[in-house]
Amino acid sequence: SDWPGIVMIFNGDSLHKFPSTRPRRLRLNRFLRNSVAETSLSTSNLIMPIFVTDSSSPQPINAMPGQFRWPLNEDLLKFVDELKSAGIHNVILFGVTGKKDPLASEATSKNGVVPRAIRLLKQSFGKELVIFADLCMCDYTDHGHCGVVKGSGEDYYIDNDTTLKIYGEIAVNYAEAGADVIAPSGMMDGQVKAIRDALDGDGYENVLIMSYSAKYASVFYGPFREAADSAPRFGDRRSYQMDPRNSFEALKEVAMDVGEGADIVMVKPAMPYLDVVRMVKDSFPQVPLAAYQVSGEYSMIKAAAGAGWIDEGRAVMESLTSIRRAGADLILTYFALDAARMLRNWDSLF
Ligand code: PBG
Repeated sequence: SDWPGIVMIFNGDSLHKFPSTRPRRLRLNRFLRNSVAETSLSTSNLIMPIFVTDSSSPQPINAMPGQFRWPLNEDLLKFVDELKSAGIHNVILFGVTGKKDPLASEATSKNGVVPRAIRLLKQSFGKELVIFADLCMCDYTDHGHCGVVKGSGEDYYIDNDTTLKIYGEIAVNYAEAGADVIAPSGMMDGQVKAIRDALDGDGYENVLIMSYSAKYASVFYGPFREAADSAPRFGDRRSYQMDPRNSFEALKEVAMDVGEGADIVMVKPAMPYLDVVRMVKDSFPQVPLAAYQVSGEYSMIKAAAGAGWIDEGRAVMESLTSIRRAGADLILTYFALDAARMLRNWDSLF
């Protein structure tokens, strides 16, 4: 090389070398930076998670400052109206209830808190609101596991195929109430096929499935489990959620879900798993991909900002932009409303 000691990058047929190449020229001012930005973020990429419950007023969630469990009344409607005005038309519902039993009957009941919330929201917002319904048993089981528990003591296990039958019933129950998208988060094998069959069998072939395909056994769900009172009462979720050490296995999970008929696949959590988001997008570019910025990711930003250690707004926008850059089409985030408001000034953020 006639440039000893200088790293040259050969890209196509252009040889980049200093001083003819100065990357900083493209960063000289905001307008240039905006012109060449590779990643975009818009309100239509965002999905707001909402906790719904039977109470008379919104209940603050201690571990998630700024988030509430919403009652099925005007307060919820006002909040969703705010989301809509800010440009957020996607919500995903989680039920919070004291009614728990071994088989999650609150989730298969027409009068469960989630079906009632879906009906209330559909009545008020119709097609203007896309309702995703999280489908799992852990919010509604007394043992806190995502499926049917068999055996006892040390020998307990989660019975996959019995659980699938219940997932099918829950899916039809939510679809009947008016859910647009069913989002199974229990990590049972074959859950997408079981739900697709159940939905199609009842005439809901136009209801979508967004599968939590690569959902890791993560410590970052801690604040959510407080919010939904859904922590397992014994054991843990490692026999069904993925091992954080694995990424190729995520491709197997996604391939299976796509084969079983998933319309959208998901990686969860988001920030600690951006490598997985990128791998999935590269391997399945034709399938819409969601990433879930989970409760722990939310609360960490809130805590650091609350202590004055980072700027909250910029941390939110940088994290969401990074999740998009890694390859996510959709992002589930508790910051959806804040982000929507900040997005009005997208061009001055970077
Ligand atoms: C239910 C479910 C969980 C989350 C979404 N759906 C919790 C869990 O698996 O324990 C976590 C969401 C979050 O942390 O924000 N299976």
